[in-house]
Amino acid sequence: MKVLVTGAAGFIAGYLVEELLKHGHEVVGLDNLSKYGPLEKSYDRHPRYRSVTGDAKDAALNEDFNISTAESTTVLQLAEAIWKKLKPGTPFRFVSDTPFKYDVQRRVPEVSKARRVLGFECRTSLDTMLDEVIPWVKNQVELGNI
Ligand SMILES: NC(=O)c1ccc[n+]([C@@H]2O[C@H](COP(=O)([O-])OP(=O)(O)OC[C@H]3O[C@@H](n4cnc5c(N)ncnc54)[C@H](O)[C@@H]3O)[C@@H](O)[C@H]2O)c1
Repeated sequence: MKVLVTGAAGFIAGYLVEELLKHGHEVVGLDNLSKYGPLEKSYDRHPRYRSVTGDAKDAALNEDFNISTAESTTVLQLAEAIWKKLKPGTPFRFVSDTPFKYDVQRRVPEVSKARRVLGFECRTSLDTMLDEVIPWVKNQVELGNI
């Protein structure tokens, strides 16, 4: 299948494009380079990848996919998991406001479309993901991108 990935120079797309190529798809990556500027990606010279510099608002081919895990995690669980990685051995404490009446309590992404159309299924655990994302965020903060 030929897939258009918007925001192709971004964080999520970096993983998504690799997966799509791994599964044999042909990928066109579109990005206006507004966030990180020109970047080298590992798949830039992949024979089934083509990079286009442009604005997604000009591309009418949009299809939405949830490419996250279908596993639900609360913000509190996420905060605690991040804290334990950043401050091992330091007890986790939190304060919170009283929730609004209609606050979403649990969010469970619908991922069947990505599986059906792209053959993509997220198998990375939260723990593994945090081990990759935390150093990436630290680096981006140092670079002044965040
Ligand atoms: N990172 C997450 O955990 C997460 C979770 C849920 C949803 N999302 C959503 O997924 C999307 C991508 O997230 P990300 O973390 O990869 O963001 P990112 O900022 O790393 O990447 C976004 C990319 O889109 C490009 N871009 C912005 N406007 C554009 C336009 N008009 N045309 C073409 N390219 C454009 C930027 O240059 C950038 O490279 C965002 O909409 C974000 O809100 C992210």
